[in-house]
Amino acid sequence: MIRPSYGRGVLAPILHGALESLEARPTSIFVLMDRRAKAAVAPMERALDRFGVPTQVRRWWPSEENKTLQGAEALMRWMVRGGVDRGSLLLAVGGGITTDLGGFAAACVLRGIRWGAVPTTLLGMADAAIGGKTAVNLPEGKNLGGAFHMPEFVLCDVALLKGLADREWNCGLGEVVKTGMVGHGDLLSFLEEVPATKIRRPGDAALRLALESGEVKLRIVEADPLENGLRKLLNLGHTFGHALETAAGPRKLAHGEAVGLGLLCALRMSEELSISEPGYRSRIHALLRKCGLPVNYPGRPPSRSELAQLLRRDKKAEAGKLDVILPRVPGECLVVHGVEPSVAAAVIHRELGN
Ligand SMILES: NC(=O)c1ccc[n+]([C@@H]2O[C@H](COP(=O)([O-])OP(=O)(O)OC[C@H]3O[C@@H](n4cnc5c(N)ncnc54)[C@H](O)[C@@H]3O)[C@@H](O)[C@H]2O)c1
Ligand SMILES: [Zn+2]
Repeated sequence: MIRPSYGRGVLAPILHGALESLEARPTSIFVLMDRRAKAAVAPMERALDRFGVPTQVRRWWPSEENKTLQGAEALMRWMVRGGVDRGSLLLAVGGGITTDLGGFAAACVLRGIRWGAVPTTLLGMADAAIGGKTAVNLPEGKNLGGAFHMPEFVLCDVALLKGLADREWNCGLGEVVKTGMVGHGDLLSFLEEVPATKIRRPGDAALRLALESGEVKLRIVEADPLENGLRKLLNLGHTFGHALETAAGPRKLAHGEAVGLGLLCALRMSEELSISEPGYRSRIHALLRKCGLPVNYPGRPPSRSELAQLLRRDKKAEAGKLDVILPRVPGECLVVHGVEPSVAAAVIHRELGN
């Protein structure tokens, strides 16, 4: 599996190096570029000019509403009109939406061309761009269409995070906390120690958070590339989180915020089953607050039956039952199979009902 590269202020040389190291020189390059990722423009252009292969750039405004089959179709048609062939390469420059859609279109067009990812959000560098999962949303739910399609390279330059909105930083931090809980307890201690003013800056702290989360994800994905077992651990907080995200609506509760609440619910369940010590939940509670993430549901939580209904629809549910990931100690979780959605809904109510 390819190992992502991490650095600060290094995009132009590492992109040039990654292109030069491809086994076969691309015949053409198609760039899908997030319009908000302004800091990526100049270094990317420098690298591509120097590389000298014909390049076309499509700038877009990503949103969950256009991470769809129609969005992928528009991208593929643009590439076909631009003369894409089996030797072409797609470069996706942006957050998780851009790398998910770009990777998906690269997996489909001409039955698959090579692609490379340049994530420009903390969430992308720590999580979304790593592991080769690509996706589009369907009207019935998020990420229900998709393919495993490994990128040729993943280049993470934290200097590109300049200009990222606070809420996006916070969402990335939520996933970093999750990753620390799944596989790297020291990451939690580091987040606790680093001064709050340094967390949301494109500096050394962000570099360490992105790199160490990325490494945990890579280690898990390498052990289980097609998500048959171990990779499920990365779903910590997500079964609860997705239900809360859907119930509240995406503008009220962003994905990373919902995951943060999901972590608290998972910790509550662990604590009630004596799988974890009570101190662990209060520790994560404080850490989420430090990361600017909510620890309460916005407004009145939905009823237990509504929550159970939403949990039952989770795409990872099997025969109406859930696999729930439960934290044990920092860096270690276990999976409990066959949990009734009504039981999980009751946990949410005990944690977030007020
Ligand atoms: N494939 C996977 O394994 C995987 C894993 C986790 C999440 N995801 C997906 O990732 C998506 C979430 O990722 P995200 O949070 O990066 O979302 P995103 O792509 O929407 O980016 C968040 C926001 O930040 C903006 N942005 C991006 N880079 C910027 C920059 N450098 N400066 C300023 N603004 C910038 C974007 O335009 C967007 O408004 C979801 O669709 C999720 O399903 C995929
Ligand atoms: Zn997530």
